[in-house]
Formats: sequence, structure tokens, C-alpha cells
Amino acid sequence: MGKTKVICFSNNKGGSGKSTTCSNVGYGMALEGKRVLLIDGDMQMNLTLSFFSEEQALELAKSEKNLYHAIRDQKDLTDYIVHTSYADLDLIPSSTLMSGIEFELFTKWQREWILSRSLQKIIDSESYDYILIDAPPTLGGWVMNIMCASDYLIIPVEASPWGLFGLANMFEFFEQVRTIRPAIELLGIAITKADERKNYFKQTLATLQELEGIHLFERYIRVDSAVEWAQDNSAPVLAFRHTSRSAKEYHELTKEILENVNR
Ligand SMILES: Nc1ncnc2c1ncn2[C@@H]1O[C@H](COP(=O)(O)OP(=O)(O)O)[C@@H](O)[C@H]1O
Ligand SMILES: [Mg+2]
Repeated sequence: MGKTKVICFSNNKGGSGKSTTCSNVGYGMALEGKRVLLIDGDMQMNLTLSFFSEEQALELAKSEKNLYHAIRDQKDLTDYIVHTSYADLDLIPSSTLMSGIEFELFTKWQREWILSRSLQKIIDSESYDYILIDAPPTLGGWVMNIMCASDYLIIPVEASPWGLFGLANMFEFFEQVRTIRPAIELLGIAITKADERKNYFKQTLATLQELEGIHLFERYIRVDSAVEWAQDNSAPVLAFRHTSRSAKEYHELTKEILENVNR
């Protein structure tokens, strides 16, 4: 395979399934034989906690080997990679200090491109097939950095009454990003936490299907308590209970994403 592809998972709405989708698609890609690097871009450290216990995550945050310190000091991210317990799946952990990242960006030269610059050596080395970045539920300078470092954007949308709220802002922000990084593509919207019995699921699905020129992934992820059990055990559901419904769905979504990237 050729060049490393960078995909970010972003939605300014919290709880839309960004971290869950990022961790499971990352794991799914590794299952499919890809070499994957995950980057936790959120101060809530949920992606880090999908692979490490709270104790381990806090240790990583304290060690200064995390994204906050790398970005603050504009370092090459190669030195910040940690191995997860799974083959071909590495991670750059976050820190709660990421809450102050906007302030750190403010005074820097070409501040939209700091993450992109820090990633350049890893990309040039072709050590990974995919780099997946989990974004925080905001739209500001830091998410701008995440998108400026990405080839593709995936928007996870929660199938809930408020799931679509703010999506227009998201599209507007994305268009702004495209003025400075025209190469980024919206790969698609992925529906999460779907409950087929509920009316608002059908409404969400219908609304998203009608959006012109925006791809909706066919495989949506249904509500499944196995997801929470997995998170409680610091593992993606695909690793924790691979026979569960959501695990199978995430595996299918992963394959769909890979097909779309390679088209
Ligand atoms: N398919 C699912 N079934 C049940 N709960 C889910 C599912 N996907 C996500 N969740 C739960 O929803 C919450 C928000 O998901 P998360 O991935 O953290 O969203 P975000 O990163 O967008 O804030 C988490 O508590 C997670 O456990
Ligand atoms: Mg999250």
C-alpha cells in the first residue's frame, strides 16, 4: 500500500460516538491487516482510555509523553507513540491539559498547521497505513489543526432527538477548513447508537439520506450495552466481545470505510 492516509473523527456535538467509532474502526483496520496509529486529540482522554486503564492513562499524561506536550513544544510526534496491547495498533495519548491547547496555539507561527508539521515525519516514514484522529466536541483552532492534518473527515452522528443539532455548523466549519486545506474530503457520516424501534432514528436516517452530495455509510451502529462493557474494560468492543452485535457492525463499517478510501 502507498502513502499513509489520515482520517479524523469530528463532530462538535458531544456524545455522538466519535471516540467509540475511532477506537473500533482503528482496531477493525488492524484486523484487516492495516498498520494503524491512533491519536487522542481530546482532553477527555476517551480514546486513550479505550486501550489503557485509568491508572496507565494518568501515568502517560504525567510522563509528558502525550499530545499536549508535543504540540505545546512543537515536537516530532514519533517520540510520543506508545504501543497498545494489540499488534499493528499504536497510540499517541492525550492529557487533561489539552483543555489549554487553544491558548498554546494562539501565539504560534502558522498555527493551523502545527499538528500537520508534527506528523510529517511519521507520514513520510510510511510506518502506518492509517492514522486516525479523535477530535474533541468543539470547533476551534485545535480542530482546525486536526482537519488540516487530515485527508478525510468522518462525522459520527448519534441517532437521537438532538443528534442533528449543530450539524449545519459542522458543515460550515468544514467549508472554512477547505479554503486552507482543499485536499480534505468528507468521507461520510456514520450513524451511531441507533435504536430501530424509535421514531427519531427513522427521522435521523431519512434526514441524513436526503443530504445532497454527502455520503452516508450504509452500516449504522446500533445501541449495544457491550460497548459500555468494553469501555469499562479499557478495550474496543471489537476486541472485548467480537461476537457482539456492535462488534460485527463496527467491523462492517470498517470495511465500508476502507472501500470508500480506496475508491
Ligand atoms: N453503540 C453504542 N451503544 C451503546 N452505547 C454507546 C454506543 N456508542 C457509544 N456509546 C456510549 O455513548 C457515550 C458517548 O460515546 P463517545 O464515543 O464517547 O462519544 P463522543 O466521543 O462523540 O463524545 C459513551 O458513554 C459510550 O459508551
Ligand atoms: Mg470523545
